[in-house]
Amino acid sequence: MSNPSILILAGDGIGPEVMAQVTRIIDWYGNKRDLTFDVSTDLVGGAAYDAHGVPLHDDTMARAMEVDAVLLGAVGGPKYDDLDFSVKPERGLLRLRKEMDLFSNLRPAQCFDALADFSSLKKDIVAGLDIMIVRELTSGVYFGEPRGIFNEGNERVGINTQRYTESEIERVARSAFDLAMARGKKLCSMEKANVMESGVLWREVVTRVHADYPEVELSHMYADNGAMQLVRAPNQFDVIVTDNLFGDILSDVAAMLTGSLGMLPSASLGAPMDNGRPRAMYEPVHGSAPDITGQAKANPIACILSFAMALRYSFDQGAEADRLEAAIETVLADGLRTADLLGEDGVTPVSTSEMGDAILAALDASL
Ligand code: IPM
Ligand code: MG
Repeated sequence: MSNPSILILAGDGIGPEVMAQVTRIIDWYGNKRDLTFDVSTDLVGGAAYDAHGVPLHDDTMARAMEVDAVLLGAVGGPKYDDLDFSVKPERGLLRLRKEMDLFSNLRPAQCFDALADFSSLKKDIVAGLDIMIVRELTSGVYFGEPRGIFNEGNERVGINTQRYTESEIERVARSAFDLAMARGKKLCSMEKANVMESGVLWREVVTRVHADYPEVELSHMYADNGAMQLVRAPNQFDVIVTDNLFGDILSDVAAMLTGSLGMLPSASLGAPMDNGRPRAMYEPVHGSAPDITGQAKANPIACILSFAMALRYSFDQGAEADRLEAAIETVLADGLRTADLLGEDGVTPVSTSEMGDAILAALDASL
């Protein structure tokens, strides 16, 4: 059997810096665990725009459809702020999500014990936090038609459309129920059924799918209340399922509960491919961080944890994913901190590659 394949799209800003550490981890698995991946690389975002005049070349899109998993770094930067909407770096990312049909976006928000002090909330509110947000990723207001800026009388009107079909709601609901079954068997669905028809339908379909998962405790919440509850008492949640736009916002709220955006991975999953693996892309939740690019300050942990999710969800290597996550916990418990994680105690920050070194050493020690 051939090796599983990975396409690395490091992208812009700190993307290539954090991805360099992931590449070392991938090599480690080949050398030490006999788990060899066929890795190829390509451009996305501003990097692709600079080379090809588009944020994602058709050839790259085609390659993404052929591999077992895509690992993406980050896209965007101030250099591209004035570009036309159609060629902005973010469009490259959205095209990958849409054409790979990655409808289920898993965004864990987990508070590492060693980092509970970094949360903007009190430690006792976030300690032990372990939430999974499932965000619908290929529909809703991000993609609904009509959209655009149109002339209407003597002024312009900006239009986006929130649109969900029953099957779109159903498939993401199923993936959330499946996850809830594998975790704490608690699912909270968030929408705005009080003001939006799409929310009414969302609630109805999620309730219907629930019949197939009687063991899961299902609740519904308006998304604004959900935001408040996430900040008030986040530990009440296990799995949350929500639409594309609410998921974008709520996952940033959840991320901040954990102390650092530099720590959070994500997985975007689609339907199974011919080989049974889900179509998949993994990326850190953080962005390209132009303010610290090129300074060796970036925290590679979110990107490395994204590879851990790839081990778990694409490559059926749950034990190896556990090993990698444990190595990261060890390193944090040992007090290693990149610059984003510095509190008041005057710890000297380690560089991006020093964090990589330490994680590799902890992996060695785990053998
Ligand atoms: C995210 C980001 C993206 C989104 C942007 C970069 C298009 O905020 O992945 O959360 O809005 O989905
Ligand atoms: Mg976002």
